[in-house]
Amino acid sequence: MTRQLKIAVLPGDGIGPEVMAEALRVLDAIERRYDCRIERTFAHIGGIAIDLEGKALPQTTIDICRASDAVLLGSVGGPQWEHLPPMEQPERGGLLPMRKLFNLYANLRPAIVFPSLTGASSLKEEILGAGLDILVVRELTGGLYMSQPKGIEGSPPNRVGVDTLRYSEMEIERIARVAFEAARKRRKNLVSVDKANVLASSVLWREILSRLGKEEYADVALSHMYVDNASMQLIRNPRQFDVILCENMFGDILSDEASALTGSLGMVPSASLAAGSFGVYEPAGGTAPDIAGQGIANPIAQILSASLMLRYSFSMNEAADAIDAAVARALDAGYRTGDIFFGRPGEKKVATAEMGTAIINCLGQ
Ligand code: IPM
Ligand code: MG
Repeated sequence: MTRQLKIAVLPGDGIGPEVMAEALRVLDAIERRYDCRIERTFAHIGGIAIDLEGKALPQTTIDICRASDAVLLGSVGGPQWEHLPPMEQPERGGLLPMRKLFNLYANLRPAIVFPSLTGASSLKEEILGAGLDILVVRELTGGLYMSQPKGIEGSPPNRVGVDTLRYSEMEIERIARVAFEAARKRRKNLVSVDKANVLASSVLWREILSRLGKEEYADVALSHMYVDNASMQLIRNPRQFDVILCENMFGDILSDEASALTGSLGMVPSASLAAGSFGVYEPAGGTAPDIAGQGIANPIAQILSASLMLRYSFSMNEAADAIDAAVARALDAGYRTGDIFFGRPGEKKVATAEMGTAIINCLGQ
């Protein structure tokens, strides 16, 4: 019997709708090949939602997401909305509440250097090596982003801005398990990033990681690294890393750094997972307002996000593998959007839709 999957599609702002269109075409091709029906309900989030419905995360969008098994998200934000009060802007009024509301505590950001893109990386080929593959696991609903108290207190000129970095044992343990489990399925190497020489939350973080590692995940090699050192090691010798686990803010920073190794932010997808199979899947990069509307953005991060969705929310590993392989083949065949085009022999500069078509043509080859 044809399997029915229900997803919410939130294209968002900037290049979001353009790259989303390609991811949806890839899903059309998947439906044909894997006997499933991916029912899509569209909704607004971010700036477009502010413009059309008055707020960045409207109730209608929340309801549509709640009624779905997974959410495929574009990106949110842009200069048009930067004048709004911070809590009403696309990021703090849309994206962050969405993470909190759906309890998406585990954010997975794979930074993979496709073989034919080794030369596009910010690092020299001899440092990068062949086929770099790092998974950043970022805690997404606690830590410095979300803990209370938070805000600006008092009145000028004596105001204070407050952010708090708080983690409970439960929060640390559940994200640690996600990282250990991921490492177990990969190269069994986990680096937990903290700042235990300064931060109390990191001391607790380290203690819990060590205990879990010893008691339940002895098969995974666990080490701890201070965040400043980790940021240096990532560009000095990225090959030492398999899975990197971070607090929310550290993970925000290190995942951008890791994505630069892949050649372009336009290559990195992400999965934000709750307990169970519900997840929100989005490119790790932003809305690229400078090129929005021109049809030239790289759709690969959005397409790989759709692949993560099939893998994590629907356990369709074969279909997800097929998408990942098709992306690699299209790159091997020389197709390049502007962000990864260097004019080298064999490279063909293409627009967003042509890249989508190239990937679809490589599916199932
Ligand atoms: C990310 C982004 C967001 C974050 C912004 C847009 C709020 O940078 O997903 O990494 O900081 O988490
Ligand atoms: Mg970020």
